[in-house]
Amino acid sequence: GKGEYDHFMLKEINEQPTSLAQALEGRIDPLNGRIALSDFEPGTFDGVDSVQFIACGTSYHAALYGSLALNQAGVHSTALLANEYSVSAPPIDDDTLVIAVTQSGETADTLNALRRAAAEGARTLTVTNVVGSTAAREADDTLFIRAGPEIGVAATKTFSSQAVMLTLLGQRIADDSRGEPPADLESLLPALESMPGKIDDLLEYSTAEAIADRYSRSEAYFFIGRGLGFPVALEGALKFKEITYEHAEGFASGELKHGPLALVTPETPVFAIFTGQEDEKTLKNAEEAQTRGAPVVAVCPDGHPAVEVADEHLRIPDTDPDLAGLVANVQLQLVSYHAADLLDRPIDKPRNLAKSVTVE
Ligand code: F6R
Repeated sequence: GKGEYDHFMLKEINEQPTSLAQALEGRIDPLNGRIALSDFEPGTFDGVDSVQFIACGTSYHAALYGSLALNQAGVHSTALLANEYSVSAPPIDDDTLVIAVTQSGETADTLNALRRAAAEGARTLTVTNVVGSTAAREADDTLFIRAGPEIGVAATKTFSSQAVMLTLLGQRIADDSRGEPPADLESLLPALESMPGKIDDLLEYSTAEAIADRYSRSEAYFFIGRGLGFPVALEGALKFKEITYEHAEGFASGELKHGPLALVTPETPVFAIFTGQEDEKTLKNAEEAQTRGAPVVAVCPDGHPAVEVADEHLRIPDTDPDLAGLVANVQLQLVSYHAADLLDRPIDKPRNLAKSVTVE
């Protein structure tokens, strides 16, 4: 049941410290600076020279996160919408690994893309929450995210666990594919270990409800981020539109000036996500929106230069840039939740949506 919570979504947002700790249990060994993914011992991905991620919706945002992290670790990778895959798949060869990211493991679009990739000779791997699901059974390998059942239609804890497990898996792939551990493994492992505790604190000090209260009658809501903050901007906007029914869009920070800025007015709050990757540029982009009257909500640690500039601040802990976007996402989940609650939407079952989309 929902226990003390009004909605499953809020319960599942609050479960993230536990679901992430569960995902990581026994899979990292920070003392010895190693990844301990038992099904993926060192050498598992020898010979892989490019990775294609396939997924839909929120899982696509997790996939994009994983793909950008892998590119940063020096491995060629792309994230593709599974429903576009049949017409726009990049070439596959023996050295291509295709990773399906699907919480349910039953999404028809994703299964079709997975089958197509396998038929073309790709090695396949599924990252999923559901043991025994079709995608888990059909792929060569599987990585379970162990998030526990997710009842709310809007994916929350499965997103964070997918993104974290993809970050970890990406490090193993990069290590095998390039023959050397990625430079940031040493800082990543302790950051992963402390992540559940930091999210636990964030859930306590979050001021997302007050921000939602102040802005929930706006005309539209924009989310901007760069690097690993970009998929989080997309996810922030998707969650917001799904459960509030309000217009929300996510952009790469630097894209704002290439068109979307025309939409920006005093009635369109802009949530700017700071991950420690070229934050000064994102701040400049946010200021361009502020100049047009838009309230800017900075999602960043205390003491960050954006705090002084922005109209509002949603605090996140200091953490590794590989993970900062994911803790920022928890604040955005809470903003969406509280905005939808104030607007009296049926949060756990938004109109027109289903938890698992088993038709093409
Ligand atoms: C959004 C949401 C959907 C799913 C998408 C893929 O909150 O839940 O966008 O992420 O339908 O579902 P899975 O991950 O089951 O393949």
